Amino acid sequence: MKSEAMQYPTATNTFTFLFFSFTVLFSFFSFLVFLFRMKPWCNCHTCRAYLTLTWTKQFNNLADWYTHLLRKSPTATIHMHVLGNIITADPNNVEYILKTRFDNYPKGKQFSTLLGDLLGRGIFNVDGEAWRFQRKMASLELGSVAIRSYALEVVTKEIRSRLFNIFNQNDGVLDLQDIFRRFSFDNICIFSFGLDPGCLEPSLPVSDLAVAFDDASKLSAERAMMASPIIWKMKRLLNIGSEKKLKEAVKVVNDLAEEMIKQRREMGHSTSKDLLSRFMSSVNDDKDLRDIVVNFLLAGRDTVAAALTCFFLLLSKNPQVESLIREELDRVMEPAQDVARFDQLCDMHYLNAAVHESMRLYPPVQFDSKFALQDDVLPDGTFVRKGTRVTYHPYAMGRMERIWGSDCLEFKPERWLRDGVFVPKCPFKYPVFQAGPRVCLGRELALVEMKSAVAASVRRFDIRVVNTGSEPRFMPGLTATVRGGMPVQVSERRQ
Ligand code: HEM
Repeated sequence: MKSEAMQYPTATNTFTFLFFSFTVLFSFFSFLVFLFRMKPWCNCHTCRAYLTLTWTKQFNNLADWYTHLLRKSPTATIHMHVLGNIITADPNNVEYILKTRFDNYPKGKQFSTLLGDLLGRGIFNVDGEAWRFQRKMASLELGSVAIRSYALEVVTKEIRSRLFNIFNQNDGVLDLQDIFRRFSFDNICIFSFGLDPGCLEPSLPVSDLAVAFDDASKLSAERAMMASPIIWKMKRLLNIGSEKKLKEAVKVVNDLAEEMIKQRREMGHSTSKDLLSRFMSSVNDDKDLRDIVVNFLLAGRDTVAAALTCFFLLLSKNPQVESLIREELDRVMEPAQDVARFDQLCDMHYLNAAVHESMRLYPPVQFDSKFALQDDVLPDGTFVRKGTRVTYHPYAMGRMERIWGSDCLEFKPERWLRDGVFVPKCPFKYPVFQAGPRVCLGRELALVEMKSAVAASVRRFDIRVVNTGSEPRFMPGLTATVRGGMPVQVSERRQ
């Protein structure tokens, strides 16, 4: 016999039943909309190769396959129908998207919801007025000479007290990628919060913030790889699996950020030089402060580490470039000097050229997407339907003969020099730091950090990548991370 509760459902049971029915129906409807927009039934040659993964037989990385397709395309633009994504390597299209019709190509809701739990309403994750306001404020802060010399002060200390020790104490193989990730995380945390997580300090325990931040950015990026956003949204609603882990990681980041903000308020922030203290004079809301600083952590951490890691891969393969860098260091620095000063870094044209050249071949952000607000036509004639994702691809662009000439695959710092002086290239041909109104705000800081680390390391050590024979395989994610790390052997040079 049925129990009374089963014969007469309670109000709670009815609510649960209605809630789940609504969720299932809503998800099904959203999935149909998704199918319709993405056209996963497209049977063209490229889409079939994508869906059946046949491209993996010939290429190590998706970026290499896209490069191959873009080089073959007469317009240097391709349309991945199954992904609803137009990908371009044409500098005119890039200028049009990033500058001429900037207002028609925002980051869009699709992007901001993926990273929203971690980045909140920070500069990286918003469009329109919210972006304009933060951009203005952040440009003022980051453009100052004082912040640049503070950044160099932070980096110099990290090199002297930690990077040299790690290189000195080893007697085997080191993972250079891991070392530079720790190095850049320490730097960006001290620079942004005034907090030293000590990631590169072997005697300190693993930093909670570093682990939580890694997890949160990885799990947020993985949302983009799911067949449909409905999947992660359902998991988040039910607080299960990867979404539960993401929520926990974001909580650790938030708790630490709140604690830092509280401490700064108690200590008084007017004498501190970090970004948080600087922003505190103009931003009162603690949530806004948290968002601003966490966005800087994401922007400045993995990018610099990725750039440094691939730089040393190219240097190992091109010893003649290393010799020319050393000649320049000997010319500009004093004989017993370990880390270069700011004015000396400005005089190192060959080093600057080598750093730019390595990011041409291995840009830390390999591709970047916007979403069209209205129907449009790109300069090469490609029609863009409203809502379509439009991607520019710095990795492919660095490997286009049409842009860099027939020696485009060679590592040649000389292409950036005229009479020994560094000459920048058009940013729409080299959008490694993006270009136009939303160009990277940390470009100068990143270059100071990279050049300092390279100059100090190359002057004192021989750093050799163990296996230079094979091309790197990258992991899917926001920045270029080499699968399996970058094993190197390090030895101190005899002077
Ligand atoms: C080699 C190192 C770096 C590279 C290659 C790089 C590249 C980029 C790119 C491609 C973007 C555009 C991303 C997008 O809109 O989706 C960007 C934006 C940004 N970057 Fe960098 N970045 C680097 C280092 C840094 C550093 C060290 C900082 C901070 C100290 C920083 C701060 C920012 C900020 C705040 C934005 C957002 C700008 C805006 O939306 O208006 N970046 N960067």
